[in-house]
Amino acid sequence: MGINIFSLTGRTAVVTGGSRGIGAAIVELFLRYGAKVVFCHARDDAEAQALTARLAGEGLSVSGQECDVADEAAVAAFAQFAKAELGHVDILVNSAGVSGDKAFEAITVADFDHMIDINLRGTFLMTQAFFSEMVERKFGRVINLASQLAYKGAPAMAHYCASKGGVVGFTRALSYDGAPHGVTVNAIAPGPIETAQLAGMTDGWRRLKHAELPIGRFGTVDEIAPVALLLASAAGSYFVGQTLSPNGGDVML
Ligand SMILES: NC(=O)c1ccc[n+]([C@@H]2O[C@H](COP(=O)([O-])OP(=O)(O)OC[C@H]3O[C@@H](n4cnc5c(N)ncnc54)[C@H](O)[C@@H]3O)[C@@H](O)[C@H]2O)c1
Repeated sequence: MGINIFSLTGRTAVVTGGSRGIGAAIVELFLRYGAKVVFCHARDDAEAQALTARLAGEGLSVSGQECDVADEAAVAAFAQFAKAELGHVDILVNSAGVSGDKAFEAITVADFDHMIDINLRGTFLMTQAFFSEMVERKFGRVINLASQLAYKGAPAMAHYCASKGGVVGFTRALSYDGAPHGVTVNAIAPGPIETAQLAGMTDGWRRLKHAELPIGRFGTVDEIAPVALLLASAAGSYFVGQTLSPNGGDVML
């Protein structure tokens, strides 16, 4: 193996939730490592345009489109757009997601459905839009954003933890279907990472979480994107059905 084992030159990638946070860091790193990238986001037009413009200023071309990952028709339209832009899709990163903490008794059915629809159904819909073509082409990488909370749970986060536990199970199951055809399916279960998602949590939650972490700090998006690069590149070709845990020691498996 040469020193280019992390190269994505010649590869094409779709990143959901790529307008900001972890998804945006993955978009940028994949571009820097040579991939052609398309991303989607939910009504983050200003952020998406700012990201696209900043990267264009560095000679890195990327296009983003609004697409609600929970909406079957929108996903079909976005998949068509992505395939038209990229020709075919080698790598799919499902980073679109929402979070939140709410006492269990206060979680409404609508709250629960919203969380599951975006975090789990969205991952299913997006993956289904690209998976068969990966199998036909005998190459593919699916990388799902789970969470360490899928393992350890958290107070007042039953709906979020259920959705992320679902993502871990989905990842394991689908890896059996993909691996014989050169398509690996893996997940990343980050610990608390400083993004808009974390900023939306209550102060009480943040204090509690901080105190739990062996590393003594929250993580950054630049500590997560390299894990996606590992899974997407030749360097990570023997990972199948795994959920990697860049989490500051929050969970030790
Ligand atoms: N930040 C953390 O601490 C943390 C920890 C563990 C796991 N995660 C997971 O990582 C992923 C990224 O989180 P983040 O912190 O970067 O969040 P973020 O809020 O910074 O970004 C979320 C992205 O998802 C997009 N999005 C939201 N709803 C969408 C929808 N319905 N359709 C399409 N796109 C949608 C947003 O437009 C945005 O681009 C999520 O799946 C999240 O659950 C985050």
